[in-house]
Amino acid sequence: MSVTDLDSYQASFDGEPGYLDWAAFGPLSPAVRAEAQADTELLGSGRRSSIELVGEHIREARELIAELIGTDASQVALQPSTTYGLMQAIYGLAGELLVGRGEFPSLTVTATRASDALGSIDLKWLEPEDGFITPDVVRDALTDDTRAVAVSLVDFRTGYRADLDGIRDVIGDRLLIVDAIQGFGTVDVDYLAADVVCSNGYKWLRAGRGTGFAWFSERALERIAPVLSGWSGTDGDLPVDVVPLPASSAQAFTVSGFDALAAARLATSLRDIVDVGVATIDAELSARTRDVMFFADRYEVPVLTPRDPERRGGIVTLAPAPQDTAPLAASLTNHGLSVTVRNGLVRVSPHVGTGADTLRLFGDALAAFSSTRVW
Ligand SMILES: Cc1ncc(COP(=O)(O)O)c(C=O)c1O
Repeated sequence: MSVTDLDSYQASFDGEPGYLDWAAFGPLSPAVRAEAQADTELLGSGRRSSIELVGEHIREARELIAELIGTDASQVALQPSTTYGLMQAIYGLAGELLVGRGEFPSLTVTATRASDALGSIDLKWLEPEDGFITPDVVRDALTDDTRAVAVSLVDFRTGYRADLDGIRDVIGDRLLIVDAIQGFGTVDVDYLAADVVCSNGYKWLRAGRGTGFAWFSERALERIAPVLSGWSGTDGDLPVDVVPLPASSAQAFTVSGFDALAAARLATSLRDIVDVGVATIDAELSARTRDVMFFADRYEVPVLTPRDPERRGGIVTLAPAPQDTAPLAASLTNHGLSVTVRNGLVRVSPHVGTGADTLRLFGDALAAFSSTRVW
């Protein structure tokens, strides 16, 4: 059931038409569902070899992530979620940390709690009017004391894709921590411009929850203290009677044993991505988001997301006039479409497998909304 090219990848999107909410949750792929069922049976067998076979997915998942990032598996640690990975990185920082005020709470809450608890972090907010954390915004906020910048690869609210290379250029050798959940596997970027990349597989990767991971560059491993390191974060056998130092690899940034079933789902989904290629997926997704923007333009619904494909991922955010939000949301619902409506914004997130039928429904929903609109 694995896929090897774009056609079979697209064909593997077997959910019902109307789903435009991949930024919220990604319905599980057929391969992920099949693997999870098979591995669940193996874990019930009582055979050691079967249990070990399922456990192998942990190594496999780390290797596939490393392949996609272009790094070594020793620098990758599986995590229960994106937020756990970000906590591992942020609690170990010292000095000034720049974070966008409008970021997803995985960053804002974590940075605030870490700063309050430890006193070693000086949190400084970035507050650009449009919410886009550009290299210029970062440059203007930098001081001699800045030690790290944390940013989303694709902003959950606006769909803005950060310019990681551009931010790297302005920050020099300071640490760049990236929340990549809204783009990993769909957005073709050079992660090596960053120092820490955290994500989870339950949205764009179609792997279900519990499939998080974090990558730490050499620089990150040197500079970030493994403050939240648990028993699994050591080298060698189970540390009993002695308490060894944390591992020198990314394994230090783990707390406990990882769920092999979650790793199996993650590895299965990553295998598809590796086979198809992120550049291919990115180009195809860009065409889908362009289709969404086409209909928004046609029915004069303002779009908040940048037009430049290099500055967006799979999210298109519509910003209707305040009086239009409820009728627009109602029309989308009436046409059987799933989107996220929050704070007056309508977030539309197609995936590579979003078919013409769903886009036609989207166009129909906007047409129906438009015909009743009061200007
Ligand atoms: C940008 C961003 N970061 C983090 C999260 C939450 O990630 P997790 O549940 O893996 O901790 C979300 C969820 O929507 C998100 O959009």
